Amino acid sequence: MRLAITLILLLFSGVASAAPRSIPALEAADAAAAAADYQRYCALCHGADREGHANDHAPSLRSQSLMQTGFPWLIREAISYGRPGTPMGGYLDEIGGPMNIEEIGRLMLWLREQAGSPERLRLGAEAVSGDVAAGAVVYADNCASCHGANGEGGTGTVLANPAMLATTPDPFLRYAIEHGRDGTPMVGFAGTLSATQMDDVTAYLRSRATSRPDAPAPVQPPSLAEAVINPQGAAPEFEFMNGHYLSAAELDRLLREKRRMVLLDTRVPSMWQIGHIEGAVPLPYYTDDAALLAALPRDGTWIITYCECPRAAADSVNRFLREQGFENTAVLWEGIGGWVALGYPTVTGRVEGRVSE
Ligand code: HEC
Ligand code: HEC
Repeated sequence: MRLAITLILLLFSGVASAAPRSIPALEAADAAAAAADYQRYCALCHGADREGHANDHAPSLRSQSLMQTGFPWLIREAISYGRPGTPMGGYLDEIGGPMNIEEIGRLMLWLREQAGSPERLRLGAEAVSGDVAAGAVVYADNCASCHGANGEGGTGTVLANPAMLATTPDPFLRYAIEHGRDGTPMVGFAGTLSATQMDDVTAYLRSRATSRPDAPAPVQPPSLAEAVINPQGAAPEFEFMNGHYLSAAELDRLLREKRRMVLLDTRVPSMWQIGHIEGAVPLPYYTDDAALLAALPRDGTWIITYCECPRAAADSVNRFLREQGFENTAVLWEGIGGWVALGYPTVTGRVEGRVSE
């Protein structure tokens, strides 16, 4: 294992009690591998050059303010475990993602270097005390327009997210509020709000944190060779909408009619573990190995893809399938987020109390 990654892994594990002052630069081969991982796994939403907002209002990963205050812990948590309830899935293999901890460490170091290796700001983890009720008013007046009335997100990140709140100490939130996120719509409120108001709104954000439920263990998802739903069923009949899309209502009908089809979940597979449309098999958006597709039927069976973006990841897999000669393909218009919001069912891949092989 190379020096820089070893060091950062020590930081992760908490073995190193005193963090080193400076973090050694990545070796060229590691930097190249991390850059490739970034393009493969992250560019879809965070943008080809980390600028953010390419899809889903994914935040900028260039922002100095984020790198100064979020590196390494928050960045590691976000990449490893994602932000459940948002399109940011977890990439760690332990929860069904495609990356091991060393690769995540390498990517994290690379992101920091790309952002110009800003000095870490050690903000500590002491709770910020403030008046929650007053903070709610500050929030409604200054923040709800971008982050949603209840912190559900919009242009801005989901501020009521238990996973985000569980991994961000108060000073991290307070700093973002005061200084903003450079190069993004999140401007600093230093000139607009008083220190007390910023404390109050921080306390208000914190007041919405609930503890993360114990996640059941991931299971081995079915393979593409097992992907055909209702093998004996008739072919689906439906009308396309907006080009190559299929509506949630139509997909629900086809599933209830037990039509023969393949349903592909194109998100990072840890999201499949958390919840998916019954019968769906993971084929993540970063798949580029055409050989894998050999397991899919080439007899005209319809292949329907979906993601949470609501369409970007599924569109890219759909394009890949078309390039590889699959003709009967469609993308779920509303994505799984819309599917759930419309009241259609999902199942979880995880199994309570059982660790699969
Ligand atoms: C499908 C879209 C998508 C993909 C792919 C994706 N992200 Fe994200 N990411 C998001 C969204 C949306 C958020 C904000 C979530 C929220 O509201 O809390 C986010 C948040 C983050 C954050 C937290 C930033 C902050 O301000 O707190 C980090 C770090 C991050 N992503 C890194 C990555 C990396 C690295 C990859 C690739 C391994 C990746 N993401 C892949 C959509 C995505
Ligand atoms: C004009 C829109 C806008 C307004 C108004 C706004 N924000 Fe933001 N906020 C954002 C965006 C966008 C981001 C993500 C940064 C990025 O784009 O990379 C963000 C990020 C944040 C973050 C960092 C979250 C993380 O996971 O790193 C916090 C905390 C935050 N905002 C709090 C607030 C609070 C509190 C207010 C009101 C006082 C507020 N914001 C007002 C758009 C806004």
